[in-house]
Amino acid sequence: MRSFADQLIAWHSKSGRHHLPWQQTKDPYAIWVSEIMLQQTQVVTVIKYYQRFIKKFPTLQTLAYADEEEVMKLWSGLGYYRRARFLYGGAQMIMNEMGGKFPSDFEMMMQIPGIGRSSAGAIAAFAFNQKKAILDGNVKRVLARYFLITQWTGLPKIEKKLWDFAESLLPAKKIDTYTQALMDLGATLCNKTPQCHLCPLKKTCLAFLQNKVQLVPIPKPKKKIPTKTAEMFIIKHHDEILVVKQSQGGIWGGLWSLPQFERKAMTAQTWIKKYFGLDTWLIKKNLKASTTFTHYKLKIIYSIFEAKSQHAKSPHSWLSLSSIEGSATPAIIKKILLKL
Ligand code: ADE
Repeated sequence: MRSFADQLIAWHSKSGRHHLPWQQTKDPYAIWVSEIMLQQTQVVTVIKYYQRFIKKFPTLQTLAYADEEEVMKLWSGLGYYRRARFLYGGAQMIMNEMGGKFPSDFEMMMQIPGIGRSSAGAIAAFAFNQKKAILDGNVKRVLARYFLITQWTGLPKIEKKLWDFAESLLPAKKIDTYTQALMDLGATLCNKTPQCHLCPLKKTCLAFLQNKVQLVPIPKPKKKIPTKTAEMFIIKHHDEILVVKQSQGGIWGGLWSLPQFERKAMTAQTWIKKYFGLDTWLIKKNLKASTTFTHYKLKIIYSIFEAKSQHAKSPHSWLSLSSIEGSATPAIIKKILLKL
């Protein structure tokens, strides 16, 4: 059977992209510009920006001696402006410190701001036919599927493994075609809506063979969020509940919620007497509920009291059980109250 690289190269001659403007050159400067633009922006968007940029700054010298304003103007709309400053600063660095010629040395390339290992690999392969690997987002996805990597590809140990795989697959010849083919496969077939029936690698792709293409790559694990605990009281009087308006700024600002007990050195009933002037009977103690916000989980511990009257002090309102559903009350509090 033909190797991974040979299959890709053969596929590329029939089905890959051949007319991207940066494919029409071997000028490392132009390829550098394209790779920086393509780091965070899609091909369709980049094409116009690339053409305008190269027209205005056709050589490294013209860019290095340009007016910064002009450079930034040509970048306007492309986003991630740091990239434009990297190119501009990089051009000056090459002029002043690297002899005025874009370096062919891989390590030297990586000294240029904005060029990481994958961009350096692409430039080395496209401009200098060096046998170097790339590993951008598209390639990570292709390799994660091909080798069925069932851990998040952002983990350092997984990334290292992927780099090792990427290097082990490199062909002895046609590294430029191979590199473009790998990028094209990731962009056109092995993307979020994969078209495995058209893929040249389907006979050996582990994710395809095990019917797991949709599961890989594994998404970034969600961060563990902290838990906060709040102690609240349901103070009822027949079928009415005492609620308090939440101050603006908090997560429930402007909504009506249950009184919240900041555990002072006193019992719940003493606190209710002190704060609302109400005498109560305890009905039920330490019930639990919880809800999750974007940044934390809220655990609510609540107790139910029956008030002996409705003559309460401090700002509050009485909410009848029948009007809870339509009230301006946080969802979790409604859920708790609707259980009554
Ligand atoms: N993404 C990064 N480099 C690319 C290239 N040379 N062609 C297409 N997409 C790319």
